[in-house]
Amino acid sequence: MKAVVINEFGTADVLKMAEMPKPVAGEDQILISVKAIGINPVDTKVRAGGHLISKRLKFPAILGWDISGVVEDCGSGITKFKSGDEVFGNLGFPNLSGGYAEYVLANENEIVIKPKDVPFEEAAALPVVGLTAYQSLHDYLKIKSGESVLIQAASGGVGHLAVQLAKIAGAMVFATASGKNKDFVESLGADRFIDYTSEGFSVIAKNMDAVQDAMGGEVLYDSIRCVKQGGRVVCLPSSTKDDPKAIELARQRNVNLVWPMMYKSNEQLSLLARMMEERKLRMHVGHVFSFERMADAHRQIESHWTVGKVVVKVNG
Ligand SMILES: NC(=O)c1ccc[n+]([C@@H]2O[C@H](COP(=O)([O-])OP(=O)(O)OC[C@H]3O[C@@H](n4cnc5c(N)ncnc54)[C@H](OP(=O)(O)O)[C@@H]3O)[C@@H](O)[C@H]2O)c1
Repeated sequence: MKAVVINEFGTADVLKMAEMPKPVAGEDQILISVKAIGINPVDTKVRAGGHLISKRLKFPAILGWDISGVVEDCGSGITKFKSGDEVFGNLGFPNLSGGYAEYVLANENEIVIKPKDVPFEEAAALPVVGLTAYQSLHDYLKIKSGESVLIQAASGGVGHLAVQLAKIAGAMVFATASGKNKDFVESLGADRFIDYTSEGFSVIAKNMDAVQDAMGGEVLYDSIRCVKQGGRVVCLPSSTKDDPKAIELARQRNVNLVWPMMYKSNEQLSLLARMMEERKLRMHVGHVFSFERMADAHRQIESHWTVGKVVVKVNG
């Protein structure tokens, strides 16, 4: 089978197409013919070598966690799935599992049934960003109807879902992105769009109940300043975790600051997919690449100008 592998850490150029053995389903495994792969910033961080997961890789390594596809074979211990099922999920994140391949193995708890009306590309795009946005808003920010929330990077993968989920929760949503993405972000339901390239968001978004930050650094410091005393802030990039200046600022302002780590939940994944099927939640796949152009998909993510999600199509 074809797979995209890395034999060293580095730029997107280290991603190479290779011929690898097709995996065989063990007793408790499911063999999936991959249709689409969702690409996330973490993929590029692992590839570059600086992520915790990078240390555990053995070369040649196959990256990739978010996939959709069709079940081709099941081990004798599998009861929930059968050949021909259309599925999607997050493969063993943060373990090493190899989603950049024509075929992958999954356990029963790593995948869920894909609703028929949700395209493979949109399903593959969902797991990491959908779970992150859902958990950020509900587990950590605990958004309640009528509260105000600021969503940073609202045009990106996590942000564009967070805006919609915050609206569904009944929040008043302030959202930052570049001016060119104003119409897109407003179409998601944002009440107050802020062009971070020309407006200081902390001047406009004041006394917020909660903020979801996607940047860290100065953006995080200003995010802490724009929540009310006792407010809540989540900061998504784990590379900024435990920034002492942010912790001190949060302490001074009595702000609850958390760096969350996405966890897997098939219940939440199925709920989000159902919302997509019912057209209550819109997954915007802004950039689609062929399997051969995996390196360009990584370059797109690293541009920091991604609108919605980056997806790579496999096998048609
Ligand atoms: N902790 C976790 O479990 C977890 C899970 C998922 C993701 N993450 C992290 O969360 C971050 C966001 O992930 P993602 O998938 O949403 O990334 P993404 O799709 O690549 O985000 C790109 C977006 O960032 C926006 N942006 C760039 N600079 C900005 C700024 N100064 N202010 C506001 N927006 C800005 C861009 O908006 P414009 O193009 O409109 O300028 C673009 O839409 C990443 O660092 C990722 O690693 C963490």
